[in-house]
Amino acid sequence: MENKNFYITTPIYYPSNKFTLGNCYTTVLCDAIARFHRALGYDVFFLTGTDEHGQKIAKIASAKNMKEMQYLNEIVADAKDLWSLLNISYDKFIRTTDDYHVKAVTKIFNKLYQNGDIYKSIYKGKYCVPCESFWSEEQLVDGKCPDCGRDVIDANEECYFFKLSKYEDKIKKLYQTNKNFLLPESRANEMINNFLSKGLKDLCVSRKTVKWGIPVEFDKDQTIYVWVDALTNYITALGYLSEDESLFKKFWPADVHVIGKEIVRFHSIIWPAILMSLGLPLPKMIFGHGWLIFNGGKLSKSKESGKNEVLDPRILIERYSSDAVRNFLIGEISFGQDGPYSQELFLNSFNGILANKVGNLSSRLIGMICKYQNGIITNKISPTEQEQNFVNTIKQLKCDSIQKIKELKPTLSYKSVLKIIDECNGYIDNCKPWEVAKQEGGEERIATILYFAVQGLLEAYTLLDAFLPEKVCQVLKLFGIDKVKIDENACCNFKIDGIKVEKITPLFARLDINKEIEELDKIAND
Ligand code: MSP
Repeated sequence: MENKNFYITTPIYYPSNKFTLGNCYTTVLCDAIARFHRALGYDVFFLTGTDEHGQKIAKIASAKNMKEMQYLNEIVADAKDLWSLLNISYDKFIRTTDDYHVKAVTKIFNKLYQNGDIYKSIYKGKYCVPCESFWSEEQLVDGKCPDCGRDVIDANEECYFFKLSKYEDKIKKLYQTNKNFLLPESRANEMINNFLSKGLKDLCVSRKTVKWGIPVEFDKDQTIYVWVDALTNYITALGYLSEDESLFKKFWPADVHVIGKEIVRFHSIIWPAILMSLGLPLPKMIFGHGWLIFNGGKLSKSKESGKNEVLDPRILIERYSSDAVRNFLIGEISFGQDGPYSQELFLNSFNGILANKVGNLSSRLIGMICKYQNGIITNKISPTEQEQNFVNTIKQLKCDSIQKIKELKPTLSYKSVLKIIDECNGYIDNCKPWEVAKQEGGEERIATILYFAVQGLLEAYTLLDAFLPEKVCQVLKLFGIDKVKIDENACCNFKIDGIKVEKITPLFARLDINKEIEELDKIAND
């Protein structure tokens, strides 16, 4: 029998700044995948959270004259508020300062040490302060940090090392035998060519100079360096090494860790090695997505953007709805690749997809039901070949959409649903109920057309609910659907006979693009 549990994670975010649209990317995509799986009947655990230790956080807090926790609490509250505005349905929000995490990380570090995989030595190399990453000379690109392109400083200090080199062969084998471990495929090739083929070096996993972190229990001068602390969140959140490991037993190994491409190395090389050392199974898949690119750069932690480059996602949510932000992130950036953001692209996508397709279908269809049938969906149906073909096409597209989400291709899954919307609009255009209405005895045919068009609409909207959870549920409720369930084996079989609906205002009103661009530019430059 198919395993119906589904565990999906975002990275835990650095609360080093207010969250950008770029930070929303991973979370929105994971949320859509999580919601879709819930609707398919999976028991889903969707984890997100914050990565709160390290020198950088301590520096920011002190610059603001705040205690670390005071600063962190503010940012975390702000992040949670943003996730709620974006309708993010996480099951757990982990903070690496949470007591249970601190306790479990302490035990994990001890365990790695007892297994003989951690030893003390001198670290000599380069360190990127903003990224909190240690690098060897060879890894630098033009003498700069390979992740963010900034200057690095010399590091020379006593610390504990993790024997990453010991796991080199096992990890190479993992890449040879499991082609789905790291996706897209190009990222796996990158790991093999840039890191594995050059040989793995032991990794510095503690620091003496950083005080804001979890202390090493057997050597209190040292704090556990950020990656062991951060990566292990995926298991401590499930209660690993706590009194109650039931969630861990149920959901580990994760079905997928979704992450941005710049942290693939940590997740696909270091994390598996840590798990191997702990004797735990590896996550089934790691997906390294691309970046949202704004004026040629990434909206992110390390490359500070100019004032008018950073667009607070709240502005977009308030003006255009959270669905508008989700539509853009899911639909316009192919999952796995980089994609540009601009106000124009965002607004055009709003009009082209949300106003013209998604919103238009329900308002026009409900309008027709009101006009031709006093708002009542009748059961006088006599399908013709046209209806049969319509249902078959929808069935195929629904199947595609489900298949694509299971393959972790949310952009394609979303596009398949939008094709259902196109089918419905096309079906209505071809059937022309407004002309049938003029024919004598046309009532039965109109009832049939509208009945099937509503079935198509409901198929599309139940699938869309995972992608656009703010608005489409309003229409589903009109048809008596409160809790969305996707039935993989049925199609166009909703119980709607006799339901009465009333006219609605369009879910997404068309925007005047030029006017909106002007407004957004004004806001960005304020
Ligand atoms: N704290 C680490 C993750 C530790 S996970 C064990 C971290 N945090 S982060 O806040 O800097 O980034 C979190 C996620 O946001 C990353 O997956 C990153 O790729 C993503 N994004 C930040 N800016 C982004 C874009 N402009 N576009 C897409 N995603 C981006 O890394």
